[in-house]
Amino acid sequence: MTQDEMKQAVAKAAIDYVEAGTIIGVGTGSTANFFIDELAKIKHKIDGTVASSVASADRLKGHGIEVFDLNNVSEISVYIDGADETNRHLHLVKGGGGALTREKIVAAASRKFVCIADDSKLVDILGKFPLPIEVIPMARSFVAREIAKLGGEPVLRDGFTTDNGNVILDVHNMEIMEPTVLEQKLNNITGVVTNGLFAIKPADVLLLGGKDGVKVLD
Ligand code: 5RP
Repeated sequence: MTQDEMKQAVAKAAIDYVEAGTIIGVGTGSTANFFIDELAKIKHKIDGTVASSVASADRLKGHGIEVFDLNNVSEISVYIDGADETNRHLHLVKGGGGALTREKIVAAASRKFVCIADDSKLVDILGKFPLPIEVIPMARSFVAREIAKLGGEPVLRDGFTTDNGNVILDVHNMEIMEPTVLEQKLNNITGVVTNGLFAIKPADVLLLGGKDGVKVLD
């Protein structure tokens, strides 16, 4: 099985978590794209979606799936999205695609978060994948200095602007031993919009694709 076939397998498995007659939160990235393509096959069963990025909204609309503004929606039954890294506690690193802030918002507004990933994303200790941090542009240098004090090596994502008009610092060389503590510390730096740790509110379910099929961790 190739990595793409594993992503496709977890995207298919995630369809079991889609509740008919509800609004579904949809993430961003290549695994989420496979999910969007699966969702299109049952689009008549759902009331619509809320997307975590302009790119996902465009793909959903391309399939004829309705995309709502989160402000016009009172309940999202489930949020389905990929991850850059996960540990066995379902703490995640996200934001490789730069959509971390909207991803965290839609995840927070959803009753359940189902993460879908191939098994290359499972690690014992988070942090090998550089941790993305969305930052207000004028605070970029200040935030970078504060992150260096915490032991990380922040690198500006060159030529990239988020859907919210901000920049991303990718933080290298952090061994994230206490994900909830670090998530809180990073949130407390003035100028940080969001960091890519999803540990204070981890995923509820992880569908992990491997060569032997899809494993469910919860
Ligand atoms: C985007 C994300 C994605 O979920 C993450 O980057 C995983 O992407 P992919 O499914 O392409 O491996 O957080 O901001």
